[in-house]
Amino acid sequence: MNGLLTVAALSKAYSGSGRQVAALDAVSLAIAAGETLGLVGASGSGKSTLARVLLRLLEPDAGSIRFEGEDWLALRGADLRRRRAHMQMVFQDPLAAFNPLASVASVLDDPLRIHGIADKARRPGEIAALLERVGLPAAFASRPVRTLSGGQRQRVAIARAISTRPSLLVLDEAVSALDVTVRGRILELLVELQRERGLAYLFISHDLAVVRAISHRIAVMDAGRIVEEGPARDVVTAPRSDAARQLVAAVPRLVTEPA
Ligand SMILES: Nc1ncnc2c1ncn2[C@@H]1O[C@H](COP(=O)(O)OP(=O)(O)OP(=O)(O)O)[C@@H](O)[C@H]1O
Ligand SMILES: [Mg+2]
Repeated sequence: MNGLLTVAALSKAYSGSGRQVAALDAVSLAIAAGETLGLVGASGSGKSTLARVLLRLLEPDAGSIRFEGEDWLALRGADLRRRRAHMQMVFQDPLAAFNPLASVASVLDDPLRIHGIADKARRPGEIAALLERVGLPAAFASRPVRTLSGGQRQRVAIARAISTRPSLLVLDEAVSALDVTVRGRILELLVELQRERGLAYLFISHDLAVVRAISHRIAVMDAGRIVEEGPARDVVTAPRSDAARQLVAAVPRLVTEPA
């Protein structure tokens, strides 16, 4: 398989209060370069756990991950830090983790510095170019993060994620908190960036309509397992699993739309 990312039989259990939760139960999937795989599933089905394992924020109990041709789980230390630039994450409110007084420039400067993308003299220009690319004025660089709207914050988060020239973005509920209009614009930006840079996305959401709008293929999770996977249109128009049927039923307008 020449996939960018190949995940095989990944498992992860959480133990707490005397019982085990199988958050991931032998999950396998693949993503090709430049492709969007949508991942949907009910709350608690294991989507964010999968994202965290992929990003090496959480170690799995079993299974393997190949990314850019490497044994991703075997990478350690400086090798892992270097390769991490190629798999970036955008989640629901990524800037919430920053000091609210931090400027947009400082949020974007960190990855450029840490990953050695641009030297100090070139970083302001790189930051301006990143802001422009995500549809924000260069003057936003000096704005404190807390003065931005939700949509603007998410644009900055996307700028930060693409700053290290990744091949894969893991987006976990990245547009879920945005109103419909802003959400549509952010999805358009993601599609443009994908065309331009050949980026692949693992696009995670509990909302099948949003996933349908951006994904080439869709995988459906239920209780830690991938229960269905196929071309986006097929999963939406002819769901085979109970979990997929329930998600489709929750979005009635989808089933009445002409295919
Ligand atoms: N740190 C943790 N400790 C114990 N259990 C956890 C932990 N994180 C997640 N879980 C459990 O693992 C399961 C999967 O959680 P996960 O957050 O991956 O689901 P999700 O599909 O992302 O849900 P949502 O759509 O609500 O974001 C759930 O049963 C959850 O309660
Ligand atoms: Mg989640």
